[in-house]
Amino acid sequence: MILPIYLYGQPVLRKVAEDITPDYPELGKLIEDMFETMHSAEGIGLAAPQIGLAIRLVVVDLDVLAEDFPEFKDFRRVYINAHILETSDDTESMEEGCLSLPGIHEKVTRPTRIHVKYMDENFVEHDEWVDGYLARVMQHEFDHLEGKVFADRLSPLRRQMNKNRLMNLLKGKAHCAYKTKRVLK
Ligand code: NI
Repeated sequence: MILPIYLYGQPVLRKVAEDITPDYPELGKLIEDMFETMHSAEGIGLAAPQIGLAIRLVVVDLDVLAEDFPEFKDFRRVYINAHILETSDDTESMEEGCLSLPGIHEKVTRPTRIHVKYMDENFVEHDEWVDGYLARVMQHEFDHLEGKVFADRLSPLRRQMNKNRLMNLLKGKAHCAYKTKRVLK
């Protein structure tokens, strides 16, 4: 089932999301719906707050990048109760976009490597250092679990450049091809 994607301005995107347990109701169905929702909106990552749930659940599918990054062929992952434990001092800048902020694409500076702890869909615990493109995607998605969006990380100048777009989103004005839940006028 395709779920509406909550846009910038929705309070749930500002909440710190909570850990869940394996008995979370209909978790398998929820994960399936999140993948379907993300695919239909042509995203590569989706965090539960973006579908209105303040829980620590993220889905990622990087298969679409396999042409440039062969290691991502069939790379589909579920991250449950994810937490970033440490980050590298070295940073890099890369363009990001977000299904909750349609029309905004900006370079964001983030640590190059991260030490993360999470559980997969079988609630098996993982503790690892991640780098490269996946570290970038994880940091973007896990920010959603802390009530942050990538626009919060822009320089004052770049934020100013996007002021009208952000204001329009807050007013519920946005053009996107997928189903959304936005602030009602
Ligand atoms: Ni996002």
